[in-house]
Amino acid sequence: MSIYNDDVKYIGRDLKPVPLTVVKTEGDYIFDSENNKYLDFEMGWCIGNMGWSRQEVTNAIKDFVNVPNYVIPGIPGYMYEPWVELAKTLSEILPGHLTKYFRATGGTEAIEIALQAAMSHTKRYEFISVEGAYHGHSLGALSIGASYWRERYPNLLNGCHKINPLLDDKAFEKVEELLKTEKIAAYIAEPIILNAAVEIPQKEFLEKVFKACKQYGTVFIMDEVATGFGRTGKLFGSEHFDIQPDIITLGKALSGGYAALGATAMTEEVAKSMEWEFSFYSTFGWNPLSTVITLANLKYLLSHKDELLTNVNEMSEYFKSRLENMHFPTPAEVRIKGLAIALRFQEENYVYSLVEKAFQNKLLIQALDPFTLTIFPSLTIDKETAQEGLNLLEKSI
Ligand SMILES: Cc1ncc(COP(=O)(O)O)c(C=O)c1O
Repeated sequence: MSIYNDDVKYIGRDLKPVPLTVVKTEGDYIFDSENNKYLDFEMGWCIGNMGWSRQEVTNAIKDFVNVPNYVIPGIPGYMYEPWVELAKTLSEILPGHLTKYFRATGGTEAIEIALQAAMSHTKRYEFISVEGAYHGHSLGALSIGASYWRERYPNLLNGCHKINPLLDDKAFEKVEELLKTEKIAAYIAEPIILNAAVEIPQKEFLEKVFKACKQYGTVFIMDEVATGFGRTGKLFGSEHFDIQPDIITLGKALSGGYAALGATAMTEEVAKSMEWEFSFYSTFGWNPLSTVITLANLKYLLSHKDELLTNVNEMSEYFKSRLENMHFPTPAEVRIKGLAIALRFQEENYVYSLVEKAFQNKLLIQALDPFTLTIFPSLTIDKETAQEGLNLLEKSI
Protein backbone atom coordinates (compact mmCIF):
# COMPACT_ATOMS: atom_id res chain seq x y z
CA MET A 1 0.00 0.00 0.00
CA SER A 2 2.16 2.85 -1.25
CA ILE A 3 -0.31 5.51 -0.10
CA TYR A 4 0.32 4.43 3.48
CA ASN A 5 4.00 5.24 3.25
CA ASP A 6 3.33 8.50 1.40
CA ASP A 7 0.70 9.50 3.94
CA VAL A 8 3.05 8.82 6.82
CA LYS A 9 5.76 10.76 5.01
CA TYR A 10 3.77 13.80 3.88
CA ILE A 11 0.62 14.22 5.96
CA GLY A 12 0.87 15.89 9.35
CA ARG A 13 -1.15 13.90 11.88
CA ASP A 14 -1.22 13.07 15.54
CA LEU A 15 -0.93 9.30 15.22
CA LYS A 16 -0.44 6.91 12.32
CA PRO A 17 -3.35 6.68 9.83
CA VAL A 18 -5.96 3.93 9.96
CA PRO A 19 -5.35 1.63 6.97
CA LEU A 20 -8.46 2.69 5.06
CA THR A 21 -8.23 4.83 1.94
CA VAL A 22 -11.64 6.38 1.32
CA VAL A 23 -12.59 6.41 -2.36
CA LYS A 24 -16.37 6.65 -2.17
CA THR A 25 -19.14 7.35 0.32
CA GLU A 26 -22.82 6.54 -0.03
CA GLY A 27 -25.50 6.90 2.63
CA ASP A 28 -24.32 4.94 5.66
CA TYR A 29 -21.35 3.36 3.92
CA ILE A 30 -17.73 4.13 3.14
CA PHE A 31 -15.84 2.29 0.41
CA ASP A 32 -12.07 1.88 0.34
CA SER A 33 -9.55 1.49 -2.46
CA GLU A 34 -9.62 -2.30 -2.10
CA ASN A 35 -13.36 -2.53 -2.66
CA ASN A 36 -14.20 -3.04 0.98
CA LYS A 37 -17.49 -1.63 2.20
CA TYR A 38 -17.66 -0.31 5.76
CA LEU A 39 -20.78 0.55 7.70
CA ASP A 40 -20.16 3.97 9.23
CA PHE A 41 -21.39 4.36 12.81
CA GLU A 42 -19.47 7.64 13.29
CA MET A 43 -20.42 9.79 10.29
CA GLY A 44 -17.26 11.84 10.73
CA TRP A 45 -18.25 12.55 14.36
CA CYS A 46 -21.67 14.17 13.80
CA ILE A 47 -21.01 15.61 10.35
CA GLY A 48 -22.86 13.37 7.89
CA ASN A 49 -26.18 13.50 9.73
CA MET A 50 -28.15 13.11 6.49
CA GLY A 51 -25.97 10.26 5.22
CA TRP A 52 -23.00 10.68 2.91
CA SER A 53 -23.15 11.92 -0.71
CA ARG A 54 -26.78 12.99 -0.74
CA GLN A 55 -27.86 13.67 -4.31
CA GLU A 56 -29.65 16.94 -3.51
CA VAL A 57 -26.41 18.38 -2.15
CA THR A 58 -24.04 16.96 -4.73
CA ASN A 59 -26.30 18.47 -7.43
CA ALA A 60 -25.76 21.91 -5.85
CA ILE A 61 -22.02 21.36 -6.19
CA LYS A 62 -22.42 20.50 -9.88
CA ASP A 63 -24.48 23.66 -10.46
CA PHE A 64 -21.88 25.83 -8.76
CA VAL A 65 -20.31 26.82 -12.09
CA ASN A 66 -22.89 29.61 -12.33
CA VAL A 67 -21.91 31.22 -9.05
CA PRO A 68 -19.26 33.98 -8.82
CA ASN A 69 -16.10 32.25 -7.76
CA TYR A 70 -15.06 34.60 -5.02
CA VAL A 71 -16.54 37.26 -2.81
CA ILE A 72 -14.28 39.68 -1.02
CA PRO A 73 -15.08 39.15 2.62
CA GLY A 74 -15.22 41.59 5.55
CA ILE A 75 -13.26 44.39 3.99
CA PRO A 76 -14.62 46.41 2.31
CA GLY A 77 -17.80 44.73 3.44
CA TYR A 78 -19.73 44.05 0.24
CA MET A 79 -23.10 42.34 0.50
CA TYR A 80 -23.82 38.90 -0.90
CA GLU A 81 -27.33 37.53 -1.33
CA PRO A 82 -26.66 33.87 -0.34
CA TRP A 83 -25.11 35.01 2.98
CA VAL A 84 -28.36 36.78 3.82
CA GLU A 85 -30.37 33.74 2.74
CA LEU A 86 -28.31 31.44 4.93
CA ALA A 87 -28.43 33.73 7.97
CA LYS A 88 -32.19 34.23 7.55
CA THR A 89 -32.80 30.49 7.29
CA LEU A 90 -30.79 29.87 10.45
CA SER A 91 -32.54 32.66 12.32
CA GLU A 92 -35.88 30.99 11.64
CA ILE A 93 -34.85 27.66 13.14
CA LEU A 94 -32.49 28.46 15.98
CA PRO A 95 -33.76 28.46 19.56
CA GLY A 96 -34.24 31.98 20.90
CA HIS A 97 -34.38 33.25 17.33
CA LEU A 98 -30.86 34.55 17.40
CA THR A 99 -30.70 37.20 14.71
CA LYS A 100 -27.03 37.90 13.98
CA TYR A 101 -24.72 35.46 12.22
CA PHE A 102 -20.96 35.66 11.98
CA ARG A 103 -19.33 33.72 9.17
CA ALA A 104 -16.85 30.98 10.04
CA THR A 105 -14.98 28.23 8.24
CA GLY A 106 -15.75 25.60 10.89
CA GLY A 107 -16.48 24.90 14.53
CA THR A 108 -13.22 26.15 16.01
CA GLU A 109 -13.49 29.53 14.34
CA ALA A 110 -17.14 29.78 15.42
CA ILE A 111 -15.98 29.21 19.02
CA GLU A 112 -13.24 31.85 18.72
CA ILE A 113 -15.79 34.38 17.53
CA ALA A 114 -18.10 33.45 20.42
CA LEU A 115 -15.35 33.93 23.02
CA GLN A 116 -14.30 37.25 21.53
CA ALA A 117 -17.90 38.50 21.34
CA ALA A 118 -18.47 37.53 24.99
CA MET A 119 -15.34 39.44 26.05
CA SER A 120 -16.26 42.44 23.91
CA HIS A 121 -19.78 42.47 25.33
CA THR A 122 -18.98 42.06 29.02
CA LYS A 123 -15.50 43.63 29.19
CA ARG A 124 -14.65 40.57 31.27
CA TYR A 125 -12.04 37.98 30.36
CA GLU A 126 -12.72 34.79 32.33
CA PHE A 127 -14.74 31.74 31.32
CA ILE A 128 -16.51 28.76 32.85
CA SER A 129 -16.53 25.50 30.92
CA VAL A 130 -16.83 21.81 31.63
CA GLU A 131 -13.80 19.68 32.49
CA GLY A 132 -12.97 17.25 29.70
CA ALA A 133 -14.85 19.27 27.09
CA TYR A 134 -13.64 19.83 23.56
CA HIS A 135 -14.45 22.98 21.61
CA GLY A 136 -11.77 22.96 18.93
CA HIS A 137 -8.04 23.19 18.44
CA SER A 138 -7.17 26.90 18.47
CA LEU A 139 -5.45 28.24 21.57
CA GLY A 140 -8.68 29.97 22.65
CA ALA A 141 -10.73 26.79 22.25
CA LEU A 142 -8.07 24.69 24.01
CA SER A 143 -8.12 27.17 26.91
CA ILE A 144 -11.75 26.27 27.64
CA GLY A 145 -11.19 22.59 26.82
CA ALA A 146 -9.81 19.80 28.99
CA SER A 147 -7.14 20.80 31.54
CA TYR A 148 -4.88 18.30 29.83
CA TRP A 149 -4.00 20.96 27.23
CA ARG A 150 -2.59 23.28 29.86
CA GLU A 151 0.10 20.70 30.61
CA ARG A 152 1.25 21.00 26.98
CA TYR A 153 0.71 24.73 26.55
CA PRO A 154 0.97 26.40 29.96
CA ASN A 155 0.33 29.87 28.53
CA LEU A 156 -3.28 29.33 27.41
CA LEU A 157 -5.86 32.01 28.35
CA ASN A 158 -5.92 32.87 32.05
CA GLY A 159 -9.07 32.66 34.14
CA CYS A 160 -10.62 29.59 32.52
CA HIS A 161 -12.50 27.75 35.25
CA LYS A 162 -13.56 24.12 34.78
CA ILE A 163 -16.49 22.48 36.50
CA ASN A 164 -16.87 18.78 37.11
CA PRO A 165 -18.75 17.12 34.23
CA LEU A 166 -21.40 15.68 36.56
CA LEU A 167 -23.85 18.51 35.96
CA ASP A 168 -26.05 18.54 39.06
CA ASP A 169 -26.83 20.80 42.05
CA LYS A 170 -23.27 20.61 43.33
CA ALA A 171 -21.90 21.75 39.98
CA PHE A 172 -24.41 24.59 39.97
CA GLU A 173 -23.13 25.81 43.37
CA LYS A 174 -19.64 26.03 41.90
CA VAL A 175 -20.92 27.89 38.82
CA GLU A 176 -22.88 30.33 40.97
CA GLU A 177 -19.90 31.00 43.20
CA LEU A 178 -17.83 31.88 40.12
CA LEU A 179 -20.57 33.98 38.53
CA LYS A 180 -20.87 36.04 41.73
CA THR A 181 -17.34 37.35 41.23
CA GLU A 182 -18.75 39.22 38.21
CA LYS A 183 -15.53 38.48 36.35
CA ILE A 184 -16.96 35.79 34.08
CA ALA A 185 -17.47 36.74 30.44
CA ALA A 186 -19.26 33.52 29.48
CA TYR A 187 -20.43 30.10 30.50
CA ILE A 188 -19.72 27.83 27.54
CA ALA A 189 -20.66 24.20 27.05
CA GLU A 190 -22.38 21.81 24.71
CA PRO A 191 -26.02 21.50 25.81
CA ILE A 192 -25.52 17.73 25.94
CA ILE A 193 -21.84 17.13 26.19
CA LEU A 194 -20.95 14.67 23.48
CA ASN A 195 -17.26 15.25 24.06
CA ALA A 196 -17.65 14.17 27.70
CA ALA A 197 -19.15 10.79 26.79
CA VAL A 198 -22.65 12.15 26.08
CA GLU A 199 -23.08 13.77 29.49
CA ILE A 200 -26.70 14.86 29.84
CA PRO A 201 -26.97 17.73 32.33
CA GLN A 202 -29.81 17.70 34.82
CA LYS A 203 -32.53 19.87 33.31
CA GLU A 204 -32.65 22.10 36.38
CA PHE A 205 -28.86 22.48 36.31
CA LEU A 206 -28.71 24.06 32.88
CA GLU A 207 -31.83 26.16 33.42
CA LYS A 208 -30.46 27.48 36.71
CA VAL A 209 -27.10 28.26 35.08
CA PHE A 210 -28.90 30.14 32.31
CA LYS A 211 -30.88 32.22 34.83
CA ALA A 212 -27.82 32.89 36.97
CA CYS A 213 -25.87 34.03 33.89
CA LYS A 214 -28.63 36.54 33.19
CA GLN A 215 -28.51 37.71 36.82
CA TYR A 216 -24.75 38.25 36.91
CA GLY A 217 -24.34 39.68 33.39
CA THR A 218 -22.53 36.63 31.96
CA VAL A 219 -23.02 35.55 28.35
CA PHE A 220 -24.54 32.07 28.02
CA ILE A 221 -23.00 30.16 25.09
CA MET A 222 -24.19 26.81 23.81
CA ASP A 223 -21.74 25.02 21.54
CA GLU A 224 -23.97 23.14 19.09
CA VAL A 225 -21.20 22.26 16.66
CA ALA A 226 -21.77 18.55 17.33
CA THR A 227 -25.28 18.49 18.85
CA GLY A 228 -26.84 20.71 16.17
CA PHE A 229 -29.14 19.61 13.36
CA GLY A 230 -31.00 16.71 14.90
CA ARG A 231 -28.30 14.65 16.58
CA THR A 232 -29.94 14.52 20.03
CA GLY A 233 -33.53 14.04 18.82
CA LYS A 234 -34.39 17.75 18.59
CA LEU A 235 -33.12 20.07 15.89
CA PHE A 236 -30.83 21.67 18.50
CA GLY A 237 -29.68 20.21 21.81
CA SER A 238 -30.62 23.46 23.58
CA GLU A 239 -34.28 22.70 22.84
CA HIS A 240 -34.27 19.98 25.51
CA PHE A 241 -34.07 22.79 28.08
CA ASP A 242 -35.96 25.96 28.83
CA ILE A 243 -33.08 28.27 27.91
CA GLN A 244 -32.45 31.07 25.41
CA PRO A 245 -28.70 31.11 24.73
CA ASP A 246 -27.10 34.48 23.93
CA ILE A 247 -24.77 32.72 21.50
CA ILE A 248 -24.93 29.40 19.66
CA THR A 249 -21.98 28.05 17.70
CA LEU A 250 -22.57 25.84 14.68
CA GLY A 251 -20.47 23.72 12.32
CA LYS A 252 -20.13 20.08 11.26
CA ALA A 253 -23.61 18.91 10.12
CA LEU A 254 -24.52 22.47 9.08
CA SER A 255 -22.79 21.80 5.77
CA GLY A 256 -23.02 18.02 6.08
CA GLY A 257 -19.28 17.79 5.49
CA TYR A 258 -19.35 18.77 1.82
CA ALA A 259 -17.83 22.14 2.69
CA ALA A 260 -15.96 23.87 5.48
CA LEU A 261 -18.51 26.11 7.13
CA GLY A 262 -19.36 27.27 10.63
CA ALA A 263 -21.43 30.05 12.14
CA THR A 264 -21.70 32.00 15.36
CA ALA A 265 -25.27 33.03 16.06
CA MET A 266 -25.88 35.74 18.60
CA THR A 267 -28.46 38.15 19.93
CA GLU A 268 -28.64 41.63 18.52
CA GLU A 269 -27.49 42.92 21.90
CA VAL A 270 -24.26 40.86 22.00
CA ALA A 271 -23.60 41.48 18.31
CA LYS A 272 -23.75 45.24 18.92
CA SER A 273 -20.56 45.01 20.95
CA MET A 274 -18.78 43.63 17.87
CA GLU A 275 -19.49 46.79 15.89
CA TRP A 276 -15.97 48.19 15.89
CA GLU A 277 -13.52 48.16 13.04
CA PHE A 278 -11.74 44.84 12.43
CA SER A 279 -13.52 43.10 15.32
CA PHE A 280 -14.18 40.28 12.86
CA TYR A 281 -12.48 38.87 9.79
CA SER A 282 -12.62 35.57 7.95
CA THR A 283 -11.27 35.27 4.40
CA PHE A 284 -13.03 31.99 3.67
CA GLY A 285 -15.91 32.29 6.12
CA TRP A 286 -19.04 31.44 4.10
CA ASN A 287 -17.07 31.16 0.90
CA PRO A 288 -19.55 31.07 -2.06
CA LEU A 289 -19.18 27.34 -2.77
CA SER A 290 -19.53 26.46 0.92
CA THR A 291 -22.59 28.69 1.20
CA VAL A 292 -24.34 27.13 -1.81
CA ILE A 293 -23.65 23.65 -0.46
CA THR A 294 -24.82 24.53 3.03
CA LEU A 295 -28.04 26.04 1.72
CA ALA A 296 -28.73 22.85 -0.24
CA ASN A 297 -27.96 20.70 2.80
CA LEU A 298 -30.21 22.83 5.04
CA LYS A 299 -32.98 22.82 2.46
CA TYR A 300 -32.95 19.04 2.41
CA LEU A 301 -32.77 18.80 6.18
CA LEU A 302 -35.57 21.26 6.86
CA SER A 303 -37.92 19.76 4.29
CA HIS A 304 -37.49 16.36 5.97
CA LYS A 305 -37.25 17.63 9.53
CA ASP A 306 -40.28 15.91 11.06
CA GLU A 307 -39.65 12.47 9.60
CA LEU A 308 -35.96 12.82 10.43
CA LEU A 309 -36.55 13.62 14.11
CA THR A 310 -39.13 10.83 14.37
CA ASN A 311 -36.57 8.44 12.93
CA VAL A 312 -33.89 9.62 15.37
CA ASN A 313 -36.16 9.01 18.34
CA GLU A 314 -37.34 5.59 17.10
CA MET A 315 -33.83 4.45 16.26
CA SER A 316 -32.62 5.78 19.60
CA GLU A 317 -34.96 3.35 21.39
CA TYR A 318 -33.69 0.51 19.22
CA PHE A 319 -29.99 1.29 19.80
CA LYS A 320 -30.64 1.65 23.53
CA SER A 321 -32.36 -1.69 23.94
CA ARG A 322 -29.85 -3.56 21.78
CA LEU A 323 -26.82 -1.98 23.49
CA GLU A 324 -28.18 -2.53 26.98
CA ASN A 325 -28.59 -6.19 26.19
CA MET A 326 -25.12 -6.78 24.81
CA HIS A 327 -22.76 -8.79 26.98
CA PHE A 328 -19.41 -7.02 27.01
CA PRO A 329 -16.61 -8.61 29.03
CA THR A 330 -16.60 -5.51 31.27
CA PRO A 331 -19.67 -3.65 32.58
CA ALA A 332 -20.84 -0.96 30.16
CA GLU A 333 -23.00 2.07 30.87
CA VAL A 334 -25.11 3.12 27.87
CA ARG A 335 -25.42 6.91 27.61
CA ILE A 336 -27.76 7.99 24.86
CA LYS A 337 -29.73 11.03 23.74
CA GLY A 338 -31.27 10.68 20.29
CA LEU A 339 -28.51 9.22 18.16
CA ALA A 340 -25.67 10.58 20.29
CA ILE A 341 -24.42 7.43 21.94
CA ALA A 342 -21.55 6.60 24.28
CA LEU A 343 -20.68 3.36 26.02
CA ARG A 344 -18.61 3.77 29.15
CA PHE A 345 -16.69 0.62 30.03
CA GLN A 346 -15.33 -0.09 33.47
CA GLU A 347 -12.16 -1.70 32.20
CA GLU A 348 -9.54 0.70 30.87
CA ASN A 349 -8.40 0.17 27.24
CA TYR A 350 -10.96 -2.55 26.42
CA VAL A 351 -12.52 -0.08 24.00
CA TYR A 352 -9.44 -0.09 21.75
CA SER A 353 -9.61 -3.81 21.11
CA LEU A 354 -13.34 -3.51 20.45
CA VAL A 355 -12.80 -0.73 17.88
CA GLU A 356 -10.06 -2.78 16.20
CA LYS A 357 -12.22 -5.90 16.05
CA ALA A 358 -15.17 -3.90 14.69
CA PHE A 359 -12.88 -2.47 12.01
CA GLN A 360 -11.93 -6.00 10.95
CA ASN A 361 -15.67 -6.72 10.77
CA LYS A 362 -16.15 -3.60 8.56
CA LEU A 363 -17.89 -1.48 11.15
CA LEU A 364 -16.52 2.01 11.86
CA ILE A 365 -16.75 3.11 15.48
CA GLN A 366 -14.41 5.23 17.58
CA ALA A 367 -12.90 5.41 21.05
CA LEU A 368 -13.24 8.79 22.78
CA ASP A 369 -10.87 7.89 25.60
CA PRO A 370 -9.59 4.66 27.21
CA PHE A 371 -13.01 4.01 28.76
CA THR A 372 -15.46 5.32 26.16
CA LEU A 373 -16.83 4.21 22.82
CA THR A 374 -18.87 6.70 20.77
CA ILE A 375 -21.50 5.81 18.19
CA PHE A 376 -22.94 8.54 15.95
CA PRO A 377 -24.88 6.86 13.13
CA SER A 378 -26.57 8.86 10.40
CA LEU A 379 -29.93 10.30 11.43
CA THR A 380 -31.47 8.78 8.32
CA ILE A 381 -30.43 5.24 9.22
CA ASP A 382 -33.14 2.61 8.79
CA LYS A 383 -33.82 -0.30 11.10
CA GLU A 384 -32.22 -2.86 8.81
CA THR A 385 -28.93 -0.95 8.60
CA ALA A 386 -28.95 -0.23 12.33
CA GLN A 387 -29.48 -3.93 12.95
CA GLU A 388 -26.64 -4.84 10.58
CA GLY A 389 -24.26 -2.52 12.45
CA LEU A 390 -25.35 -3.63 15.90
CA ASN A 391 -24.93 -7.27 14.86
CA LEU A 392 -21.40 -6.45 13.69
CA LEU A 393 -20.71 -4.75 17.02
CA GLU A 394 -21.99 -7.78 18.92
CA LYS A 395 -19.82 -10.03 16.78
CA SER A 396 -16.82 -7.85 17.68
CA ILE A 397 -17.19 -8.24 21.45
C1 LIG B 1 -18.46 20.49 20.37
C2 LIG B 1 -17.40 20.88 19.38
N1 LIG B 1 -17.08 22.18 19.24
C3 LIG B 1 -16.16 22.58 18.35
C4 LIG B 1 -15.48 21.68 17.56
C5 LIG B 1 -14.46 22.15 16.56
O1 LIG B 1 -14.98 22.08 15.28
P1 LIG B 1 -14.02 22.01 13.98
O2 LIG B 1 -13.30 20.71 14.05
O3 LIG B 1 -14.97 22.14 12.82
O4 LIG B 1 -13.11 23.17 14.06
C6 LIG B 1 -15.77 20.32 17.69
C7 LIG B 1 -15.07 19.31 16.86
O5 LIG B 1 -15.15 18.13 17.05
C8 LIG B 1 -16.76 19.90 18.62
O6 LIG B 1 -17.08 18.60 18.78
